[in-house]
Amino acid sequence: PVTAALATAHSNIALVKYWGKRAGCDPELNLPAVGSLSMTLDELRTVTRVAPASADRFELDGEEVEGKPAAKVFAHLDRLWRLGACSGPRPRCAVVSTNHLPTAAGLASSASGFAALTIAAAGCFGLAEQLDDPTRARLSAWARMGSGSAARSLWGGFVRLDAGTADDGSDCRARPLPSPRPWDLRLLVVHTARGAKQVGSTGGMESSRLTSPYYPAWVESSAADLDAAEAALRARAFDQLGEVMEHSCFKMHACMLATRPALMYWNGATLEVIRAVWQLREAGGPVGYVTSDAGPHVKVLCRAEQAPALAAELAAVAGVHEVQRVAPGPDASLELT
Ligand code: DP6
Repeated sequence: PVTAALATAHSNIALVKYWGKRAGCDPELNLPAVGSLSMTLDELRTVTRVAPASADRFELDGEEVEGKPAAKVFAHLDRLWRLGACSGPRPRCAVVSTNHLPTAAGLASSASGFAALTIAAAGCFGLAEQLDDPTRARLSAWARMGSGSAARSLWGGFVRLDAGTADDGSDCRARPLPSPRPWDLRLLVVHTARGAKQVGSTGGMESSRLTSPYYPAWVESSAADLDAAEAALRARAFDQLGEVMEHSCFKMHACMLATRPALMYWNGATLEVIRAVWQLREAGGPVGYVTSDAGPHVKVLCRAEQAPALAAELAAVAGVHEVQRVAPGPDASLELT
């Protein structure tokens, strides 16, 4: 039963980072070498509608997309059709996506994008009617094959993705962690540049795996960070969570810097923001902990009540364009139309 389906998936930011793919297994599975732990972001989301059509087409933010990005979308549809063991040729689809990521540049849309695409296509192909727990878990694994970070965007709040060890990826699973709702956190997204990043994550992490002498240590030490972060989250130990989050971020960037050629994603303002967060923390100001991904922006975790003051401080740092205050976001959703 092929029908139109509409999905919403929220973006997420890793507090414990994913950087590196497992070698020696089917690349199609896109298995991570390390687990990761993320916060799903409120408001920042992708809404995608997949509907049967006379020919494949992909529209993003009101514009027709062609070439490689469109091919990736259609290849994911082919994959889902195959994984769902659907019979006959895959129906042609119109995929219409809207990114609600206030500043389009630099913030990962692949997480929310592949999560929403996976859910909507599964709905369209009759592979999901509602997002009950087992369906969500199944779609998370399928979303991962499109992009690793997308596996985490099926759930709201805080999500852990375990790397697993099985060659078939059966134990590479994501799951939601207990929501710390009474323990209200915010993530400040501090924009330090406009425009797209230079080296994408997929190529960058492969390059680190092949050339960074720090890569084995990065992989080996990451499981302990995951456990420490989950324990801190459960205990609502904010400073412990912040400490392990910064450690994971800087360790990943050290691994990136030791890649040949070096992967340096930061600019001057990135460093200024990090220093400002550290200085405020030491001076007894609003307390934040930083993380950053394969781009120059800085994301700062803080307590909800300190978010306005911290955001104001960081907006005043030279080179900062914008500071967004983002709450933990909801589960991804599906609507059959
Ligand atoms: C630095 O999920 O974009 O943001 O699986 O190749 O699509 P692919 O990579 P992707 O990598 C995200 C890397 C990161 C850290 C993280 O989100 O965990």
